[in-house]
Amino acid sequence: GTGMTTLDPGFGNTASCRSEITYIDGAAGILRYRGYPIQDLAQHSSFLEVAYLVIRGALPSAGELKDFADQLRTNAPVPDEMRTLLDALPRNGHPMTLLAAAVNTLAAYYDDSADPTDDDQVETATIRLLAKLPTIAAHIHRRTSGSEPIDPDPARDYVENFLAMLFGQGTGDTELDALYTRALDLLLLLHADHELNCSTATVRVVGSSDADIYGSVSAGVNALFGPLHGGANQAVLEMLEEIRGMGGDVDAFLEKVKAKETRLMGFGHRVYKNFDPRSREIKGLAADILARQERPDELFQLALELERKALADPYFTERKLYPNVDFYSGVIYRAMGFPTNMFTVLFAIGRLPGWIAHWREQRKDPATRIARPRQLYVGPTERPYPAQG
Ligand code: SDX
Repeated sequence: GTGMTTLDPGFGNTASCRSEITYIDGAAGILRYRGYPIQDLAQHSSFLEVAYLVIRGALPSAGELKDFADQLRTNAPVPDEMRTLLDALPRNGHPMTLLAAAVNTLAAYYDDSADPTDDDQVETATIRLLAKLPTIAAHIHRRTSGSEPIDPDPARDYVENFLAMLFGQGTGDTELDALYTRALDLLLLLHADHELNCSTATVRVVGSSDADIYGSVSAGVNALFGPLHGGANQAVLEMLEEIRGMGGDVDAFLEKVKAKETRLMGFGHRVYKNFDPRSREIKGLAADILARQERPDELFQLALELERKALADPYFTERKLYPNVDFYSGVIYRAMGFPTNMFTVLFAIGRLPGWIAHWREQRKDPATRIARPRQLYVGPTERPYPAQG
């Protein structure tokens, strides 16, 4: 025989994958965090409230939310020696590459919170990750774009503070700044968790060996960076720019996709085979934000035309390919002034609560075993080493 073994179903012999965090029904386009529909959370909640919900399993009271926000505010700064590290990272590096490297070193700077078996240390690490990821990401953005880093401001709320560390002064229009802050808050909320996606599965697999949470999250950042996953939001903008470069010829581009010469980035999903409820929320937000611009945003118009034509084309509908969370988010990030190389970093900031929640849940699950997928061996059968002549 070929040493055939029966494959364990799914994760079978690996990290536990029972979860109470996120429910997705791909056929019905349903997404719920701890039972709350994403539409309700998008309309009534905030990123911090959702981060608390996803991690702790219940909506916080007003007092609990204020304490949570205050903990993140006071823990936002990074140690001086870490600032030296961030300043020394290669300026031409992609922010996701640099973010993964920096997050991994948190276990060294904060070795009093790297023991995965100590609940108090896990709690401390949870706050430190949520509080410092925006500071680290903003510092990396400032350095890779040739600017001086901006310290966190304890007087500002979480998302407002992140934007201030990234861009310094606002747009000069306080009403527009408030709109952008609300828009980014909603975008981060919509990215907060998505059950066993590639990067969250990675965080669970690494954590299943009793590795620390900082190294597990760093691994998640690396998995998310791939263009087939979180890197898709950057790839969508590059695709739209390519189409604009072709004179906006959407039909010609779709022919290239159908000839399998390229992919329609931001389309398709392993689970959603009907529509991604997040992309509906984001498309509406994009329309609101871009409607304020004097001239219609050319790339948004191209995205709308791409979606309209793809959804009318059997090639895509037969393969159940619909816009996913990454299809419209990039046009908003670009309108807000983010460079394309920061789009996936924004995805990571949004997904951090989900990574933390799954890592913590797995540690509490008695069914958890070290991730050890089995393979189907299809290599050579036994053969003797050739006798020496
Ligand atoms: C995210 O898992 C998650 O939940 C992820 C995520 C999250 O919140 O964590 O939702 C975030 O990663 C969203 C997806 C972002 N990625 C992209 O937009 C990249 C483009 N999408 C594809 O690469 C693809 O659709 C995936 C990776 C998203 C899903 O891959 P699958 O399920 O393995 O699909 P597949 O490759 O088996 O495709 C099935 C068919 C194939 O055609 P045939 O071989 O049957 O002829 O559909 C085709 C594929 O060629 N296809 C596409 C396509 N996606 C699939 N053809 C053109 N363009 C595409 N985007």
